[in-house]
Parts: sequence; C-alpha cells; structure tokens
Amino acid sequence: MSIRPMLAALAGSLFAGTALAQSAVSEEFQKFRDVMEEDNPAELFEMRGEEYWKTPNGPKKASLEQCDLGLGPGVVKGAYVQMPRYFADVDQVMDAERRVVHCMVTLQGIPYEEVVKQPFSNDKGTPDHVAVVTYVAAQSRGMKIAAPQGHPKEREIYRIGKEIFQFRAGPYDFACSTCHGADGKRIRMQDLPNLTKPEGAAKGVIGWPGYRMTGGFMLTSQWRMNDCFRQQRFPEPKYLSDTVTAILSYMTVNASGQLYRGPGIKR
Ligand code: HEC
Repeated sequence: MSIRPMLAALAGSLFAGTALAQSAVSEEFQKFRDVMEEDNPAELFEMRGEEYWKTPNGPKKASLEQCDLGLGPGVVKGAYVQMPRYFADVDQVMDAERRVVHCMVTLQGIPYEEVVKQPFSNDKGTPDHVAVVTYVAAQSRGMKIAAPQGHPKEREIYRIGKEIFQFRAGPYDFACSTCHGADGKRIRMQDLPNLTKPEGAAKGVIGWPGYRMTGGFMLTSQWRMNDCFRQQRFPEPKYLSDTVTAILSYMTVNASGQLYRGPGIKR
C-alpha cells in the first residue's frame, strides 16, 4: 500500500470514529454553550474593545471613532456582518480584523509591526486589536450576514477563496473541503461544519470571535483560519494576508442571510 491511500484510509477512519458517542458529547457541549452564552465572558472583551475604540491612543493621540468600517466613519452598528468588503481608500477587500488594524495604523499612527507583534491572543492575553474586533462584532449581534458582492474585487476575492477552499496539497493532500466539504463530518468529538452550504457556513461565521474557555482569551476568525491551515499541514499564512481575507469572504458570502449571533464561546 503506498502512502497516499494509507493516509486516505486513516483520514476516513478518523471521520467515521465512534460517531454516535461523539454526537452525544457535542450535544452536551452545545447545551453547555447555550447556557454559558447568556452570560458570556466575551462581554468583558467587548467592553474593553469599546473603551479602546473611544479613547485617544498612539502617537497621533486619536481614538478609532473616525474609523470607516464600510458604512461611513464611526459607524459600527451592522458593519461586521457586511465585511469582508471593498474599501476604496486602499483599493482592496478587507475583513473586519484587517480593517481594524488598518485604522489603528492610519488613524492612531501605531506602526504596523507593533500592532501585529502579537497577532493572536494567547496565555499572555488578548491584544487590543482583538478586543476591538470583539466590540465591533458585538455591534452586529442578531443581524443578517450580508457581505457585499457588488464590486468586481469582491466577486474576484470570493472566487479566489472558493479555489483556495478546494485546493489540495501538503503531506496529506488535504483541502479545506476534505474536512468541511460535506455534511456530518467529525474529528475528535468536534463537528466539522459543511462550509459550502449556507447553514454550515453560518456555523463557521456566527460564533466568531470566540471566547476560549480553556485559555480565558478571545480568538478571531483570522486565528481560526490559521489554525485550520495548520491542521491541513499547510504553511501558516502571513497574518492579515489576502489568502485569509479570500477564505473569509468565501465563507461569509456563503452564509448570507443567516443571523449573526455575536461573539461566542469555544472550548
Ligand atoms: C484535517 C481537517 C481540517 C482541515 C483540512 C480544515 N479544518 Fe477547519 N476545522 C477542523 C477542526 C477539527 C475544527 C474545530 C471544530 C470545533 O472546534 O468545533 C475546525 C474548525 C473550523 C472552523 C470553525 C467552525 C465552527 O464551528 O466555529 C472554520 C470556519 C474552519 N474550520 C474553516 C476551515 C478552512 C477555511 C479550512 C481550509 C483552509 C479548514 N478549515 C481546513 C478541521 C479541519
């Protein structure tokens, strides 16, 4: 048996697993999550992000209140569910996290390298830009996901995201679609949403950013993407790269019309 079919067989058994026992566990976790979300610790980070948003900071001593998230300077409500979107000032499509970092750099004058020194939360804590993303996301809670596809660059990046989603490579010949391209897949007791369909794609969008219970910090969609590239045994993309914006665009557009639940809870 050559290595490829062996790996494929291994992957197959991973997915099949003890599906019944696992579905009981994930149901339990869902119940737990529903209870927890009523009193979600993510709110602390929303508050911290809001405070950061409104407080002058950085060399330019500016707040983020003039930051344009796509609906005009300072408009936060509803902005998160309408990103990624095209921004004329940079002639680029940006997702929420990328845009927030962009505003910190341009409005507050904080050097890019400094903002992204710690891109993701870890045991050292939740960086400011992640708290801001959490605040921005919370201001779209309960709204319909509606990432625009009107601009040619928005359509182009969606198409690129779709291609990346299906692109197989790496030591296991995995693509995103290997794990997230069909209904009912599971790994290690975790449901893998089918991101090619509206309901599954919504699962991949509606609860992010998420409060990680096992660490006490917030993780964003950007982090989730990096971690899945790692699971796929791909090199991790550069922070805030076009690749990640493209994937987020693919997922978010696929989730159009579904309700965004706001910052959630992850184990
Ligand atoms: C080897 C299998 C595997 C591959 C390949 C993979 N993922 Fe994942 N993905 C997972 C696992 C495991 C989780 C965690 C599920 C959980 O915690 O409930 C996950 C979670 C996610 C989530 C969050 C789902 C949720 O319910 O919140 C998204 C979104 C996602 N992956 C997208 C991707 C994308 C995009 C790619 C391709 C770059 C990818 N994944 C590749 C295994 C994989």
